[in-house]
Amino acid sequence: MDVDKIRKDFPILDNIVYLDSAATSQRPASVIESINKFYKDQNSNVARGLYQLAEEATFEYEQVRKKTSKFISSNENEVIFTKNTTEAINLVMRGYGEKFIKKEDKIVVTMLEHHSNFVPWQELAKRTGAKFEVVGLTPEGNLDEADLVQKLKGANLFAFSAASNVLGTMPDLKRLCKLAKDAGAISLVDAAQYAPSHKISVKEFGCDFLTFSGHKMLSPFGVGVLYGKEELLESMDPFLYGSEMIRTVTSQKSDWNTSPHKFESGTPNVAAVIGLGVALDYLNNLEMENITSYTQSLSAYMYSRLNELDFIHVLGPEKRTGLVSFTIDKVHPHDIAAILNEDKVCVRSGHHCAMPLHEYLGIPASTRASIYFYNKKSEIDQLIVSLEKVKKLFG
Ligand SMILES: Cc1ncc(COP(=O)(O)O)c(C=O)c1O
Repeated sequence: MDVDKIRKDFPILDNIVYLDSAATSQRPASVIESINKFYKDQNSNVARGLYQLAEEATFEYEQVRKKTSKFISSNENEVIFTKNTTEAINLVMRGYGEKFIKKEDKIVVTMLEHHSNFVPWQELAKRTGAKFEVVGLTPEGNLDEADLVQKLKGANLFAFSAASNVLGTMPDLKRLCKLAKDAGAISLVDAAQYAPSHKISVKEFGCDFLTFSGHKMLSPFGVGVLYGKEELLESMDPFLYGSEMIRTVTSQKSDWNTSPHKFESGTPNVAAVIGLGVALDYLNNLEMENITSYTQSLSAYMYSRLNELDFIHVLGPEKRTGLVSFTIDKVHPHDIAAILNEDKVCVRSGHHCAMPLHEYLGIPASTRASIYFYNKKSEIDQLIVSLEKVKKLFG
């Protein structure tokens, strides 16, 4: 990885130390230009017009679906474009959950979950009368094995994250999908923090659903992906009704198109989807294996440098994705972030949309530094220098 060369594609990084890619990544020039180009030369709605411009826009849009399916090793009709991960999970909650989850069924999630993969299931349990159970953690921040096995018994749906956005924990995906399958449960993998820096093969994982957000992996805002197994998608109800998701409509009744169109109701964010295609090209050019090994080694460096500071409490296990959350006794994370900001170091502070996890850990909030392939060791060193300032200021 020639990071200095890569950074030329991200001029925004010249003046800041950006350590908040877990919230959203920066975008390379090629992605930014693709949006401009689309509106300038290709702009048209998709799946409607029969003139050349419209057909070309539709073709480009569907090419990105093809590219995305290759990116995750699925079939094309198993890729649904959504707004983001949150919408993708809600689509499954409404389209699958409300149709198939019944009173006394069991929905299982883990204590690692982002609200987007927690609240929809909690709400589904409330609406259907199903049980809602949360798998606990070990003191290091890994899933508690005994609790997992116990809670999966008799489960109907198991939703879990491939990488925690707070602790960085990365459970063994393949194994969890197999455990879910053996228990007779449908599995949903929230890959929002995993997809940006790890190879995805839904076939190899054996999951039923998988979701991620484009904006965390170089794409424009406004596009996310839901993968679902074909037979499950076909059995599901639509999430949103109207527009091009129909086959026929009469004044008496309507019926639906097949997947993925059944789930892409209304005009999609075409420019964002085109941008996603360019982002996937960028990632493919770098090769995901290189991104994984570079981000893992930078993350390990950040973890060990932070652990060297005696006033920092690092959260989560050593084996982790590209982020480290931590606390400092008697200093609010918002104050830490504000002081780091004076040195142009951008980190996130708060509950990171994981209030149940913070409550479980017995802390109100934490500070999180997260990296991507465009970050350098010198930026981690700057983080450490700025944190020393926090210590000085607060004594
Ligand atoms: C693990 C995880 N899941 C879901 C989400 C929600 O993603 P989005 O806001 O793009 O819907 C996030 C966002 O930070 C996340 O980190």
